[in-house]
Amino acid sequence: MSVIDLRDVPDFVANPYPYYAKLRAEGPVHAIRTEQFERAWLIVGYDEGRAALADPRFNKDWRPSGRWPDGDSAISTNMLELDAPRHTRLRRLVAREFTSRRIEALRPRVEEITAELLDAMPATGSADLIDALAFPLPMTVICELIGVPDLDRDAFRLLSNGVVSPTAEQMEGDAVGAMGDYLVELIEDKRCAPGDDLMSALIRARDEGGDGLSSDELVGMAFLLLVAGHETTVNLISNGVRALLDHPGQLALLRADPGLIDGAIEETLRYDGPVETATLRFTREPVTVGSTVIPADEVVVVALASGGRDPGRFPDPDTFDIRRDTRGHLAFGHGMHFCLGAPLARMEARIAIRALLERCPDLALDPDGGEPEWVTGLLLRGVRRLPVRW
Ligand code: HEM
Repeated sequence: MSVIDLRDVPDFVANPYPYYAKLRAEGPVHAIRTEQFERAWLIVGYDEGRAALADPRFNKDWRPSGRWPDGDSAISTNMLELDAPRHTRLRRLVAREFTSRRIEALRPRVEEITAELLDAMPATGSADLIDALAFPLPMTVICELIGVPDLDRDAFRLLSNGVVSPTAEQMEGDAVGAMGDYLVELIEDKRCAPGDDLMSALIRARDEGGDGLSSDELVGMAFLLLVAGHETTVNLISNGVRALLDHPGQLALLRADPGLIDGAIEETLRYDGPVETATLRFTREPVTVGSTVIPADEVVVVALASGGRDPGRFPDPDTFDIRRDTRGHLAFGHGMHFCLGAPLARMEARIAIRALLERCPDLALDPDGGEPEWVTGLLLRGVRRLPVRW
């Protein structure tokens, strides 16, 4: 099987969907070369991707594979880089605190922050919607939830971008190191002066055996929640607005019946979700996918974005239709690593887009906004700026 380098596919970052369609037509799994790996396996079929996400033969913990001998750190002691039973213990502890009641209690605050951000926009004009709304909303919410109200947002944005969409390997290493230092200090402060927030609750939390989270586990958890909790939601809001502005018929439907907002968000997740590929998995033994045997100790990448466009699961998949049945989309993953923050992300995106459309009846893409600048790397899908006018 030949090895594909997606970086050589013309326009792949701007629009990967035609190439995913071509790959799906050829088979559910393909060997690819990435910045990090000479060979990894990209699963593009919906059924195969869904099965892989819940298959215990794929490890999340990379340590046994010896892939990053120098890369271990407190930050990587997080749920997305661990398997059962360590994952189970951490997930249980955080799920106990990350309750739907805690999330629902945030609703008035999410509405208030959204209104404040929209108030700060002039009645008519133009802006970068990411700066004005899509970035500050989830950032403020996750910081308040975790308990870092005075975090230097711009510095954090740079670090977080460096982690999830690095422009160079060095930058990723620097960003992870700086983020780790910041979080160690934060947790020490919280131990001395606990508050009513999630991080303080996690510091107090004890498992069945009476053990609390270790310092490394707390750093890993804070890192995962901060990064997973805002970078993705930024792109859900901006991808949703982009899809609606690109499909005026669907936008008109939503304006006529704002109750369709839930459908609009789910369809955005399926059609152009913020997470293009799941995080890396490693085969602990040879695994057959379709007619391909992936050997043991190999890297596997599930293309969630391709699953959302698989015609075997979603008829007419390239059509953006906010009234379609989107159940079963993989945008939040599947199995034991299913996104912990899905209810929060959905709530934020519904409130943000609904309020934005109410405030800005003439919202449109800014024709003078220049070429879109796409988020680089395979992990996330979205634009760095979204110039609009209203
Ligand atoms: C639209 C927004 C979001 C999307 C599309 C998204 C997507 C995902 C996906 C695909 C996974 C699974 C990755 C894998 O299996 O490799 C995941 C896991 C996770 N997400 Fe999200 N996420 C979003 C927002 C959030 C928010 C707001 C939070 C927290 C406040 C969050 C916290 C997490 C955590 C902690 C995990 C790891 C769960 C585990 O390993 O058990 N996410 N997310």
